[in-house]
Amino acid sequence: MYFIGIDLGTSSVKLVLMEKSGKIEKTVSREYPLYFPNPGWSEQSPKDWYEKSVDALKELIADIDANEVKAISFGGQMHGLVCLDEKDEVIRPAILWNDGRTEEECHFLNDEIGKDKISEYTANIAFAGFTAPKLLWMKKNEPENFARIKKIMLPKDYLAYMYTGVHATDVSDASGMLLFDVKNRCWSKEMCDICGVDIDTLANIYESYESIGTITKEFAALTGLPETVIVAAGAGDNAAAAVGTGTVGDGKCNISLGTSGTIFISSKNFGVDKKNALHSFAHADGTYHLMGCMLSAASCNKWWMDEILKTKDYAGEQTGIEKLGENNVFFLPYLMGERSPHNNPKARGTFIGMSMDTTREEMTQAILEGVAFALRDSLEVAKEQGIVIERTKICGGGAKSALWKKMIANIMNIKVDVIETEEGPGLGAAILAGVAAGEYESVEAAADKLVKVIETVEPETELAEKYEKKYQVFKQIYPSLISVYDAMSK
Ligand code: XUL
Repeated sequence: MYFIGIDLGTSSVKLVLMEKSGKIEKTVSREYPLYFPNPGWSEQSPKDWYEKSVDALKELIADIDANEVKAISFGGQMHGLVCLDEKDEVIRPAILWNDGRTEEECHFLNDEIGKDKISEYTANIAFAGFTAPKLLWMKKNEPENFARIKKIMLPKDYLAYMYTGVHATDVSDASGMLLFDVKNRCWSKEMCDICGVDIDTLANIYESYESIGTITKEFAALTGLPETVIVAAGAGDNAAAAVGTGTVGDGKCNISLGTSGTIFISSKNFGVDKKNALHSFAHADGTYHLMGCMLSAASCNKWWMDEILKTKDYAGEQTGIEKLGENNVFFLPYLMGERSPHNNPKARGTFIGMSMDTTREEMTQAILEGVAFALRDSLEVAKEQGIVIERTKICGGGAKSALWKKMIANIMNIKVDVIETEEGPGLGAAILAGVAAGEYESVEAAADKLVKVIETVEPETELAEKYEKKYQVFKQIYPSLISVYDAMSK
């Protein structure tokens, strides 16, 4: 018996074929392009997501008896705006989670309507990548497109619709729309009114582990899957990754080093960070979580390797990095602006501290350290809320680097538990599919049974102390540059 998890990421779609024991039999991925039509804008084609996922699905099940596949689910890049017209056709390219065009709309929501009100309705404030500000942007800048909207979907929900014909979403992903009452797990009528959104254009809400239906006859014929395959609502990629790393229940932590970088803290109880620097979202296990999200994490290293150093030898570039805690070069990883905790779409990537003897290795080191320092910024906000974190799980492409894990453990001064598989969101999605099919009793029970820690990276006292001093320098850099970023954006 098999369950399929589909991780709809920003650079690619990654599919996981999981046997019911939790064993991953096969993974397949397909890349698709990302478009930057203006500086700070970020778009993708939903058609690409669908076609590549179908192609990958066929390869995933090529060597097995497809009748053994019982259910599919998703972990999807969050916040993306997919608009469908009356024929369920996509109206315009999707505007993604790391798009920074909605500064004016965020100002309207946070400063004119007011952070207190928005936070009361949704448990969050407006950030540039969230869905509601994008709808306001579309209403103002593309009124003809806005008038044609009949359904508003999130990226993974568009895939689920194409597979099943059902317009559905789940509580964790809906949380990032700023149209959702996170505490009560339902749409917020007040926010819909503020944004001029007809509540009927929003999809039906499910818990992440609930079935939304089965695949259509056409989709079964297209892929070779049986029509009985159940589709579970799935989750935003961070909540799915949390399931896939066993970050369920109360007070657990997961760090994801993907295109974005996130620190995810699970909680049985609903809670809001007083400064709203962290997101307060519903979790895929039926509970809640707090999350800090930085917009560029492993993507900073990818940019540095691919675009600047012009190399594919990521591991090779890290071998010469030896002087941990002693680097005088700092990198602020704000290549797409920054979300948590600064909420500043105008911030930009910044190197500082170079001298004539600065080496290539030190610059690479600064990139990796800069991401870890920026994650620590969100950890500090969590600590201010009285949250105590002693250990974390880790997943995402960046988690393949032993050096980066060591930096995270020492810069954040927490234990880093490494799990058997890095397929966080894909594995989490497969687990959600299994719960929806009735194979596991609950998300928590399934994660307890299937997720295994294989190694722990412990902070080292001396190194953590050295990094503590460096962090005290790092945290002074951003505040002193705010006016510079402002001036640069004009
Ligand atoms: C979370 C967020 C990102 C995307 C990346 O709020 O915006 O982590 O989900 O896929």
